[in-house]
Amino acid sequence: MAPGTTSRDPRGRRTPAGGGSVTVTAPAKINLALRVGARRRDGYHALATLFQALDLADDLTLGPGAPGVRVTLTGPEAGGVPAGDDNLAVRALHLLAGRVGHDLDADGLELVLHKRIPAAAGLAGGSADAAAALVAGDAYWRTRLPRPELVELAAALGADVPFSLTGGTAVGTGRGDVLAPALARGRFHWVLAFADHRLGTPSVFAELDRLRGPAGPGGPPVGRSPLIGSPARAGGPSPVGSSRVSSTRVGSTGLDSADVSSTDVDSTVVGGTLARGVGTGVPTGPAAGHPALRGDRGRGVRALPPPVEPVLPASVLAAVRAGDPAALGRALVNDLQPAAVSLAPGLLRCLDAGVDAGALGAVLCGSGPTCAFLTADRESAVALAAALAGTGVARSFHPVSAPAAGARVLSRRS
Ligand code: C5P
Repeated sequence: MAPGTTSRDPRGRRTPAGGGSVTVTAPAKINLALRVGARRRDGYHALATLFQALDLADDLTLGPGAPGVRVTLTGPEAGGVPAGDDNLAVRALHLLAGRVGHDLDADGLELVLHKRIPAAAGLAGGSADAAAALVAGDAYWRTRLPRPELVELAAALGADVPFSLTGGTAVGTGRGDVLAPALARGRFHWVLAFADHRLGTPSVFAELDRLRGPAGPGGPPVGRSPLIGSPARAGGPSPVGSSRVSSTRVGSTGLDSADVSSTDVDSTVVGGTLARGVGTGVPTGPAAGHPALRGDRGRGVRALPPPVEPVLPASVLAAVRAGDPAALGRALVNDLQPAAVSLAPGLLRCLDAGVDAGALGAVLCGSGPTCAFLTADRESAVALAAALAGTGVARSFHPVSAPAAGARVLSRRS
């Protein structure tokens, strides 16, 4: 940016010229629990989720360029990512430029996006790029926007963008964009299975609505346990204090027995709201091969109970707080998983393969199609990735760990 251009700080003062280049990194995320409530009037669904940022990240470099924003895509996951104005990072830069009074038509930007996070994979890759663009633009133009304003811009760009900005471990409510930090101990080690196809987030949410139906479950598939997948437990709201959690045990072929233990759970205050440890959907985790997820084995998921107020299971919060991977493996849950499986039944084979190969838990990442397998430590993750490499259930397997920091400046050249 040339001296004398129009960037201004939040108080309307002209800011020093940018120039040089800024490189920012921003993380992928995993939802350790994802509970989905009813569709809202604005088209979004009410969520309660526990996010953790992964040490898998995209890097974004900004430098001076021709008018507008010109994008160059690099990296192993660059294929199929839009390079035009529909790229979320480009939209983020236009939004930020509008806020700080920078004229991109006069002083444009060259943006190099190094993609390691696959697109449309449930890992918030686009959101990471948007968050990186906000941090990079703010640093490049030296606008020093107050954090709450950056978060507000992030939320306008997408429900997951505020978490990409924040990173760490956080509870998300609202659309998933209202964040409260959550306690976490130690590191969790995962294997991510990248699929060879994509799933659009809106279509997975729409499939969940379809499966839930307008008037109730209409004969949902049930599992072998009276507590898992049964309409009585999963279909309706439970009174505070009477809700129950169950844990499941798996054998080599998926779920062999369920309801190993069930305990009354405490009420947990999350982000100012009361979160009950109640299951409203179908447990995932090591129960990835549960008959309720398979529907009629091969014929897909037929129906699901209607939505209830989304609440986080106390078990997942406790496992993360304790840094206990075995407990977390049992507590993983994703209400979008049956909908994604309904659209892409091959995901069950992938989830089962991870459990069969010894994962402590398996869960779909966000709206999928990436599957995540939890392991006890880094060595186990590397071994699991190697064991899965020949199975053909996914395109590639990647050991990763969490938590990681949110979007941050890596380097700056003047
Ligand atoms: O916010 P973002 O653009 O990432 O969301 C993509 C789509 O995912 C939304 O348009 C909506 O269809 C769906 N979604 C939802 N409820 C949420 C988050 C996303 O229905 N809480």
